[in-house]
Amino acid sequence: SSTDRIKLIEVGPRDGLQNEKGIIPFETKIELIERLAKAGLTNIEAGSFVSPKWVPQMDNSSQILTHLLTSPPKSSSPLTFSFLTPNQRGLTNALDLLSANSGKYTTSSPTPSTPAVEIAIFAAATESFSKKNLNSSVAQSLETYKHVIQSAKEHSPSSSPLRVRAYISVVLGCPFEGYDVSPHRVAEIATELLEMGADEIALGDTTGMGTAPRTKELLTCLRAAGVRNEDVAMHFHDTYGQALVNIAVALEHGIRVFDVSVGGLGGCPYSPGATGNVATEDVVYFLESLGMDTGVDLDAVADCGEWISKELGRANASTVGRAVLGA
Ligand code: HMG
Ligand code: MG
Repeated sequence: SSTDRIKLIEVGPRDGLQNEKGIIPFETKIELIERLAKAGLTNIEAGSFVSPKWVPQMDNSSQILTHLLTSPPKSSSPLTFSFLTPNQRGLTNALDLLSANSGKYTTSSPTPSTPAVEIAIFAAATESFSKKNLNSSVAQSLETYKHVIQSAKEHSPSSSPLRVRAYISVVLGCPFEGYDVSPHRVAEIATELLEMGADEIALGDTTGMGTAPRTKELLTCLRAAGVRNEDVAMHFHDTYGQALVNIAVALEHGIRVFDVSVGGLGGCPYSPGATGNVATEDVVYFLESLGMDTGVDLDAVADCGEWISKELGRANASTVGRAVLGA
């Protein structure tokens, strides 16, 4: 049934790579996206229009976007690419590229030959994380996002407005403020972002400090505040190994969109000690065991995780990936 269909957002090319110290070649980033598409991942976060002084690894996101539009990866299903835009400057850079490539993308329904493009903004649930990640208070960042969403919707260089995803980071624990993050504050910020026109709220457990009871408490609080399940996605990092348990809780609550990262790559440069997102391989295996459909080929994505881990000189951080490959 349709309730068994899960939407996975592959964030490996952005969240997975942004923390890598050595600059990863452009060709490797493109090959990663192509392999993910081939494995059946249809929603891929591919880069970030942030300050290169803050996150040097994402500096070639313009070239990535241009390449994806001019030579779209082969895929049996239509693809959607998203890019982070934390301010007006980032949005303008993205919109200029889109204008220059009109006809090569869509903002609504992608087809096998024409991918869709979306943007994402990122707020935080605590003041200290907002300051470290964005150099602004939560209120200032929301003020910025009000304008970013408005101009994204008004100046979308296509017939229908750009879809805007809005992250809220550190919803279940903050590297600077600990476990004491108020679910009510998260619900308030989510409500504000939705009222500004955000199309989806992605709840980020940036530190991986989330547990089953606190995930349940957070989602219950959001529901009580009137935030609908269909407007929510969960973005779990697996630092404490709790991500699959938290996903089980979120599924039970009715959430159907989850962020994943191939090979369990990643971490946030402004969240010391945090490791990667929950591995795509682990989530696909888990969801299949529940009889849910992800559209992802487990063997192909496991190969991709092993390949990119080797490229980065890292151990494969996906438990399922290692098991599938007998490694
Ligand atoms: P700032 O220093 O306050 O901004 O940073 P500024 O306006 O003073 O600009 C500083 C310099 O950056 C200037 O250059 C600007 O032109 C330039 P200079 O004049 O010094 O030569 N600049 C830009 N360049 C390119 N693109 C831009 C841009 N904006 C300014 N868009 C700013 C404010 C928001 C820019 C900065 O804090 C920033 O880039 N932060 C991004 C941090 C980041 O990317 N973090 C990782 C992503 S979030 C995450 O991983 C969490 C998530 O996965 C969910 C979860 O797990 O919770 C999403
Ligand atoms: Mg993240």
